Amino acid sequence: MMESHSSQQPPTVFVLFGAGGDLAWRLILPALFNLYLDKSLPQQWMLMGIDRQDYDQHSLAQHYRKGIQQHSRRPIPDEKTWQSFAQLLRYHQADITDPGSYTQLAKALAEQDKAWHGKAERVFYLATPPFLFADLANGLGEAGLAKERQHARVVVEKPLGHNLESFCEINQALNHHFEESQIYRMDHFLGKETVQNILALRFANPIFEPIWNRRYIDHIAITAAETLGVEHRAGYYERAGALRDMVQNHLLQLLCLVAMEPPIAFNAYDLRDRRMDLMHAIRPITEEEVGRYAARGQYGAGWIRGTQVPAYREEDEVAPDSNTETYCALELHIDNWRWQGVPFYLRTGKRLPVDASEISIRFQEVPHQAFPASAGLNAQPAQLVIRLQPEEGIVLRFMAKQPGPQLILRPVEMRFSYQEAFQTASPTAYETLLWDIMQGDATLFTRADQVEAAWRLLMPILNVWETNPAIDFPNYHAGTWGPETAEVLIAHSGRSWLAPSLSEREG
Ligand code: BG6
Repeated sequence: MMESHSSQQPPTVFVLFGAGGDLAWRLILPALFNLYLDKSLPQQWMLMGIDRQDYDQHSLAQHYRKGIQQHSRRPIPDEKTWQSFAQLLRYHQADITDPGSYTQLAKALAEQDKAWHGKAERVFYLATPPFLFADLANGLGEAGLAKERQHARVVVEKPLGHNLESFCEINQALNHHFEESQIYRMDHFLGKETVQNILALRFANPIFEPIWNRRYIDHIAITAAETLGVEHRAGYYERAGALRDMVQNHLLQLLCLVAMEPPIAFNAYDLRDRRMDLMHAIRPITEEEVGRYAARGQYGAGWIRGTQVPAYREEDEVAPDSNTETYCALELHIDNWRWQGVPFYLRTGKRLPVDASEISIRFQEVPHQAFPASAGLNAQPAQLVIRLQPEEGIVLRFMAKQPGPQLILRPVEMRFSYQEAFQTASPTAYETLLWDIMQGDATLFTRADQVEAAWRLLMPILNVWETNPAIDFPNYHAGTWGPETAEVLIAHSGRSWLAPSLSEREG
């Protein structure tokens, strides 16, 4: 056995529905294993995996071991450590559409309480497709497993619905049995260290906040570019598309954090209220305005880093005439005092030339150019880039005089890397969020009203795109920066997309 784990935390049973699925295998178990290595799991902790598949305790552990070997941040250090983790894993084969399964689960949990001589915290993680969320919530509720407000939490992950209506149905089913304070809606972007650092940058440093507004900022662009294609997820992605997959959740979260007002305190109530205030202030886009404020794309065949890749429509399980967008760009406006007149551009896409997620804050031009025209040929407004991945950091681009007798200005960069500064690897977003769930801290989770507001904002775009299939798909080659329409979208205001701030190593 390893040394004892966190004895401060109450005993916890982590009930994992969908234990045999990809999410559990690729993300949840590797994160739990890393928490175990850090001794961050409660001293009395157990995973109860539930699924229909034919596993037992031993074969499930073997299955997870492979997932951990492939996806864990740190390797399994030795056999003894693995065995001590594996003995915390249990498996119950069950059909979650059968009410009897929940009665058995309730019995097993009660027995565990007895064995531990006390009431354990119960985390019900629904790592299943979302169409099962309502059945699961009902099953848990009817077996009496939701009613202990302080001891039972339920975790759900995107996609939280396919549209506003289906989100409301899921929410209703959850709310019927659980209180809002018991529901943890995951958006894994909120667990990324740099995403949390947006708040540290803005509110722990007095130098940024005074210029963080329409008087000094020209525009803000949020990019999430991926080189990967749809991989093995076409079954899901065909119905989702880039707007639902990335914008409805992750990119709007980033927008909230970069644009919200300062919170009074760093806690779940305040932060979620401020994020929600921002959602309220986003100017709605009507169906008539979709052509002006939103652009969509789908990748055709092309080259990524010297490798030829197929078109989206040629990927497995993708319809040959698919109307699913693999790229989208939006221009949003925020109607409040701070941001009036500052456009926010959001873009995301698969099969783009590089992996880069970042927020670029472009400052305004100097009000008066005192240097001779010959000096300022390369003049560019200052830019602050918050880099989320692949390297986490901050880049400040500004003008400097080039050494030499002539007065020539050139853009230069100051780079800050979290890894170099702190000399330690960041935990993954799942580690952070799973730890928070077990602590009962909902700060980094999304409240129902925010998810609903995000759906409300995007519904006109989804409706227009669904009823008017794109006639130009595929409209960008894999390995390029997306369709022409996205260039047109930003060119409306005389601007253009800023190149990502890759370091030499990444570029
Ligand atoms: C997921 C999307 O939510 O986020 C994926 O479904 C996307 O399509 C992924 O690739 C990006 O997350 P990360 O953490 O890998 O940048």
